[in-house]
Amino acid sequence: MRILFSSLLTLTTLVASFATESAIVPDVSPTEAYPGGKASVSFKPFASFMLPAANLPDDEKPAFYAGKALGHQPWVKAPTITTARDGLGPVYNARTCLACHVNGGRGVMPETGEQNLVSAFLRLSIPGKDKISGVVPEPTYGDQLQSQSVALFHQLRHMKMKKNDYEAAPEGYAYVDWVSKTFTYPDQSSVELRSPSVRVENLGYGELHPKTMMSLRNAPPLHGMGLLELIPQQDIDAGADPMDKNGDGISGRVNRVWNVETGAAEPGRFGLKANRATIKIITASAFQGDIGITNPLFPDQPCSANQTTCQNTRDGNDLPEDVELPEELLEMVTHFMLNIGVPKRREPNDPDVINGRAAFYETGCAQCHTPSFTTGYSPELPHLSKQTIWPYSDLLLHDMGPDLADHRPDYEATGTEWRTPPLWGVGLSGAVNGGSNLLHDGRARSVEEAILWHGGEAATTKERFIHLPKSERESLIKFVESL
Ligand code: HEC
Ligand code: HEC
Repeated sequence: MRILFSSLLTLTTLVASFATESAIVPDVSPTEAYPGGKASVSFKPFASFMLPAANLPDDEKPAFYAGKALGHQPWVKAPTITTARDGLGPVYNARTCLACHVNGGRGVMPETGEQNLVSAFLRLSIPGKDKISGVVPEPTYGDQLQSQSVALFHQLRHMKMKKNDYEAAPEGYAYVDWVSKTFTYPDQSSVELRSPSVRVENLGYGELHPKTMMSLRNAPPLHGMGLLELIPQQDIDAGADPMDKNGDGISGRVNRVWNVETGAAEPGRFGLKANRATIKIITASAFQGDIGITNPLFPDQPCSANQTTCQNTRDGNDLPEDVELPEELLEMVTHFMLNIGVPKRREPNDPDVINGRAAFYETGCAQCHTPSFTTGYSPELPHLSKQTIWPYSDLLLHDMGPDLADHRPDYEATGTEWRTPPLWGVGLSGAVNGGSNLLHDGRARSVEEAILWHGGEAATTKERFIHLPKSERESLIKFVESL
């Protein structure tokens, strides 16, 4: 009886909220077909997240392509004759940016626990807080497990060469074993879901600290970063409701992170936990942490004080800058990152898509996946300024419940919070590089699986989705895939 009563109650609440929310399905705007405003690009005949914004001025194209080349060509071990591209490692995760952000898209997760983890990595830390790095790094391994190194025995590991003590060992090899479960809808149709179980082998520097927290993160796609950077902070703040004053069960918080350029704590909006303030900073930190390339913002090699062989390995620093990537080249890659175009919508007027659009608003997806913003003005990026854009993200942190939790705080973000990812282009993920690995750890193989993992603040929305008739669920997914 009690069960019946409570489910009746849920049903009435659902119906009531449906009634109020159906009023908020906005009319279709003609601008929706161009999610990146005038910077939107056509994805025919090639699907790629590396095309320049459609309105990038001609005189900036050489810089864009130079930045793309720097993000694409592999870095090599120092010393070499090509001083401009040496300095890889000593420990690193990949040799290029685009090895992980394949074709500018998201990373491709290994299918089985035998394959190496390539485009995703593990962030590490121990309990505690640090104003500058946001976390207390694992004392020996630092805040990221670098699974590669320039050591010959590692490069030739298929020849079963032995580890030695004069070359820096990789920090450890990471693998993901997928654990499957079946989700059954109230209408009895079912979907297989998988979640990762992480395994670290061949630790190069002894045991991890017993309190180590690990966060598996897959590389997100790179298009539209300049437009996201130009969203005025006050417009992002306007969506935040940390105390849930409006009582809709959805809070939304701004992360506060260290800006190495200004030397102050500032709102974060990039990275999966909104753990970086600007594209230049996340680019520079990726050079250091992911490839082992030092630069003016992050001038130290990715070796901790306890990794002496790593520290003593020859670097690729060139004078006068005394870093591996001088400011000028960092600016070029940043320029490339800021100016990648956003795909135009595919078939936005298909009746099924229009139907799914209404369901998207009615179920509450738009409460976090904020459809639209207008970018502010930047003298450096006039072509990306004052554009009406449709990223479908509030760029805020949300508690997504225990199933998605990594239990590893990052600055102000808790172990259950993640930044709402933009949904523009999500339907092209597979076409861009075969990697339809959605969510922070790439566990979801489709939009449907991604929705079914939503919990926490998104639990009510997910319930509404689950209770939609199958055909309406399919329309909603079709809408998301058309973004
Ligand atoms: C080993 C794989 C790997 C490599 C190499 C790599 N990245 Fe990433 N990238 C990631 C992951 C994983 C994240 C998410 C990080 C996080 O949230 O902590 C990320 C995040 C980003 C973001 C933020 C996107 C967003 O939506 O906020 C940008 C921009 C970026 N990377 C640029 C670069 C650039 C530029 C390079 C080369 C200098 C690079 N990455 C190299 C894996 C990689
Ligand atoms: C409470 C806020 C919230 C609501 C409501 C919400 N989402 Fe999300 N969504 C998120 C967050 C945060 C993530 C990232 C979670 C992660 O990576 O673990 C996410 C991830 C996703 C992804 C994966 C995107 C990617 O790039 O990996 C899709 C697709 C998605 N949501 C669609 C939807 C749809 C459709 C709805 C409505 C049925 C919805 N979301 C409702 C916050 C929300």
